[in-house]
Amino acid sequence: MQSLPVLENAWLVIENGLFKEWGSMEDFERIYASTYGYIAQAEDLQGKSILPCFCDSHTHIVYAGSRENEFVYKIKGMSYEEIAQKGGGILNSAKKLQDTNEEDLYENAQKRLNEMISMGTGAIEIKSGYGLTLADEIKMLRVVKKLKQNNSIRIKSTFLGAHAMPLQFKENRNGYIEEIVKKMIPQIAEEGLADYCDVFCDKGFFTVEETDTILQAASKFGLKPKIHANELDYSGGIQVGVKNGAISVDHLEFTGKEELEVLLKSDTIPTLLPSTAFFLRLHYPPARNMIEAGLPVSLASDYNPGSSPSGNMFFVMSLACIQMKMLPEEVINAATVNASYAMEVNDTNGSITPGKEASFIVTEKIPSYTYLLYSFGRPCVDQVYIKGKKVS
Ligand code: NIG
Ligand code: FE
Repeated sequence: MQSLPVLENAWLVIENGLFKEWGSMEDFERIYASTYGYIAQAEDLQGKSILPCFCDSHTHIVYAGSRENEFVYKIKGMSYEEIAQKGGGILNSAKKLQDTNEEDLYENAQKRLNEMISMGTGAIEIKSGYGLTLADEIKMLRVVKKLKQNNSIRIKSTFLGAHAMPLQFKENRNGYIEEIVKKMIPQIAEEGLADYCDVFCDKGFFTVEETDTILQAASKFGLKPKIHANELDYSGGIQVGVKNGAISVDHLEFTGKEELEVLLKSDTIPTLLPSTAFFLRLHYPPARNMIEAGLPVSLASDYNPGSSPSGNMFFVMSLACIQMKMLPEEVINAATVNASYAMEVNDTNGSITPGKEASFIVTEKIPSYTYLLYSFGRPCVDQVYIKGKKVS
């Protein structure tokens, strides 16, 4: 994670939307004359830097309405779980979403996506989970499908029916699990609406047993797990995720020795969401322990209305440096190449590699890449290219 290859004073050639080749300017005249005499369009980026676009592997950007009233409750001292128990939190977002039509949801999600792209995100995973009924979960996933159709950036979709227990199932938990397993998963799979299945496996939300049941059912329909785990407690979420072959387990504020060992024996990517820990005033996940144990840590924004109302990956990376003591090289790798594995776009995204999509950020003129993280809160982006086309 500490190896971040840098080429100074370089040229970069893109062809048909893909990275083709690069080299040092010292060699440019010779290469240009012999190989690249046909270059159609050139741009001088002197003083600026290029880095691969971020892969934001964990977001909830399809939602209806913000929750700034809860923000005030939190300031006054209520915990995330207390707010959730009072019918706030996820259930509050579900109520709003159920009353919002597909077109409005799409329009708002597209706006959020445009803003994220302008801040350097070039691949994104988007979850359902504010529907909590068959019809509303499908409505959310159709919005994601439309986003996939209308945007050139790579988008993965995740079914998160088990995000919170709907009030009407409070005394009948198995009833909702059955609804997910017997109705939602089969229909969502049949319509090809999801790539992954998620469960919020944590204290006060879904148990290990419930998570296991849901993930096994999803796997029969080809939906691989990518789950919320160990945000609020040592929930067993990491273990049950790994047991079911999760692509990633996300949050991980509560990660001890046992969890580290389980992760080390797996191919599951630990994904940390420091802007959520920041916003909810949680203690941060032990990123240093993970990295020193040899795990490929990944970072994502968790953009959602309740616990991380921002898709700014530059801020996420700065927080990872400041609060989790990750080094600049580590956070850049975590938000790009490692994150591409956490959402299975590593063949096409996540690094400047010949043959991968030419989705990259041109920074402002900066003294060094460390400056990007040091100047926290402000994306130092001059231009963004997606598949070789300037989009922002
Ligand atoms: O990733 N932890 C669970 N779900 C979201 C929060 C969703 C919400 O509060 O609306 C998260 O933090
Ligand atoms: Fe989340």
